Amino acid sequence: MSSVKQIGVVGGGQMGSGIAQVAAMNGIDVCLFDVDPRALSKASASVSASIARFVSKAQLSQSEGADALQRLRFTSNLEDFHQADFIIEAIVESEDVKKRLLLQLDKIANSSAIFGSNTSSISITRLAAATSRPHQVIGMHFFNPPPLMKLIEIVRGAQTSDETFAATKALSERLGKKVITSQDFSGFIVNRILMPMINEAFYALYTGVATKEDIDTGMKLGTNHPMGPLQLADFIGLDVCLSIMKVLHAGLGDNKYVPCPLLVQYVDAGRLGKKQGIGVYDYR
Ligand code: CAA
Ligand code: NAD
Repeated sequence: MSSVKQIGVVGGGQMGSGIAQVAAMNGIDVCLFDVDPRALSKASASVSASIARFVSKAQLSQSEGADALQRLRFTSNLEDFHQADFIIEAIVESEDVKKRLLLQLDKIANSSAIFGSNTSSISITRLAAATSRPHQVIGMHFFNPPPLMKLIEIVRGAQTSDETFAATKALSERLGKKVITSQDFSGFIVNRILMPMINEAFYALYTGVATKEDIDTGMKLGTNHPMGPLQLADFIGLDVCLSIMKVLHAGLGDNKYVPCPLLVQYVDAGRLGKKQGIGVYDYR
């Protein structure tokens, strides 16, 4: 595939908005779609604020910042993706919902377009099989917040072609990211290791080992992590963490992946983390 000219991003939440921003800041025209118009307004405000931070720190000139914003279009019509040559989905972490979206995209998109999924854990092979182009489907896993985090984890499904892999790697490097490659097993590399740690932090809180503050301070100062695991869980979204633990448990089978009841209870109570104003901590 020749160099990507237009990217479509589906899902304007924390990840989709950041991914669209990264593409626009690296000279690529981007169209961002979300089913929820409020998510689009929120995405527009957060991208503008983030670009303003880069400009204020002189990491981007005023005109580069303005150009990036010019390259970014927001839409409530998925049909606008018919010309995109690379489409990245960053919608809710649900296999059924992602499959339904990919089926829809399959009908709209150019036959040569590649579909990248930003899934944190779900099988790329199964997502790809829902489309008529499984060799053009790949995992392209960004990290939160996408404008700052330097990594993209590329996940090859059973049918992902070498051409799709090469185009995705080239695009990732053009976005200024370091690439790692994972085989298609639940949670891939990073979340397979990170999420059990976060889940264990919930168990430590649940069983009264220590306060949330001491668990987080312990891991921040004791292991030099930028955030403690409970603070990081709030940052990621407790709904996202729970979905990933369920995929790890279903896919890898071991009881060590059973989601902590306290994590389940917080999600049941609508305490989804920073994006909701309350999770383990209260941000209101
Ligand atoms: N856009 C632009 N700049 C931003 C920004 C954004 N969205 N967010 C923060 N910044 C800048 C700030 O302006 C600040 O710059 P200066 O230091 O020059 O002033 C700098 O980044 C640090 O920001 P803050 O002081 O506000 O906050 P911080 O020091 O806590 O850093 C952080 C923020 C980079 C998020 C840091 O806390 C961190 O690295 N946390 C861990 C993040 C992490 O582990 N992410 C991966 C999660 S797992 C995942 O993503 C996979 C999955 O599938 C779930
Ligand atoms: P989020 O809840 O912030 O945003 C999800 C967005 O998708 C919402 O705006 C919602 O309106 C939209 N959406 C839902 N269904 C849709 C559909 N059918 N069509 C279009 N839009 C739809 O979630 P997020 O944290 O941005 O996560 C998105 C994806 O990225 C998930 O697969 C998640 O696992 C993955 N991910 C998350 C993180 C993280 O730290 N939060 C990091 C890496 C990857």
